[in-house]
Amino acid sequence: MSDLQLAILGGGHMGRALVAGLLRSGTRPERIGVGESAEDARGALASDFGVTATPDNARAVDGAAVVVVAVKPTETQAVLKGVSVVLRAQRPLVLSVAAGVRLASLEGWCGEGVPVMRAMPNRAALVGAGATALYAPPSVGAAQRAAAEHIARGVGGFVWLNEEDQLDAVTALSGSGLAYFFLLAEYMAEAAEGLGLAPPVARILAAATLHGAGVLAHSGVADLARLRAEVASPGGTTEAALGVLTAADLKGTVERALAAAARRGRELGDLAGRPAERP
Ligand SMILES: NC(=O)c1ccc[n+]([C@@H]2O[C@H](COP(=O)([O-])OP(=O)(O)OC[C@H]3O[C@@H](n4cnc5c(N)ncnc54)[C@H](OP(=O)(O)O)[C@@H]3O)[C@@H](O)[C@H]2O)c1
Repeated sequence: MSDLQLAILGGGHMGRALVAGLLRSGTRPERIGVGESAEDARGALASDFGVTATPDNARAVDGAAVVVVAVKPTETQAVLKGVSVVLRAQRPLVLSVAAGVRLASLEGWCGEGVPVMRAMPNRAALVGAGATALYAPPSVGAAQRAAAEHIARGVGGFVWLNEEDQLDAVTALSGSGLAYFFLLAEYMAEAAEGLGLAPPVARILAAATLHGAGVLAHSGVADLARLRAEVASPGGTTEAALGVLTAADLKGTVERALAAAARRGRELGDLAGRPAERP
């Protein structure tokens, strides 16, 4: 499976993270071809990772067993239509990571007989700590599902979903979720500066705390509520802080934030599905 030939269309933030994660887990650089329109991004992919990066998407796709689509949702239609001749001739698995863009649209742009599925990874793929959800329709066979799992496992952990619509919730939770924790860590560092810490010290401690929380939460030693309770002894400092967060309706704020992300995913899917404008 590590000999799988991969094409990644779009070598931006997510495409780069997938390349880096796959190389870390043992995929050889010559097994990855990237189709990327920006010259500086192509240069960086070649020099940082030793992968082939070309402005010619059809060339990147030629001979690939799996084609990962990692361009912006609104660019997906043009990119897939641009390579549909090669896709229909060679029938690789097309794996889209584009937020919101639905399978029915993707299948239409790829053309008859091309197996298509969707995934929602996150940018922690860059360091092999990604969280990916996979969804495949019944038409995608066992070998191609295994190929998608191989990619997702290579960049972190993965789960399978039963329904395509669940991908909007995944986008809101883990696809975008890293940024919520980064924002909280930024605010924590700034608040600690206000309490007298030097900025570099506050940043180091905030990032280390975020890392420690993530490792503990992922370790499975206890569920999230128990881990929280074990830090917050009754009448202590943590409880004082959590009381402020609860009083400020952190739960409701988080619910509204995730609902906004899921809604935006659906909107992007609608926008991406509109007929492409002719140049
Ligand atoms: N970023 C994340 O954390 C994340 C997480 C989960 C899923 N995703 C999904 O991943 C996809 C990419 O997101 P991103 O954040 O990586 O965006 P991005 O940084 O803008 O990357 C997209 C890349 O594709 C290039 N591109 C544009 N048109 C192209 C074409 N016709 N052929 C080849 N390359 C082309 C862009 O070049 P230009 O800059 O020249 O346009 C850019 O380098 C999105 O659909 C998003 O929903 C992202």
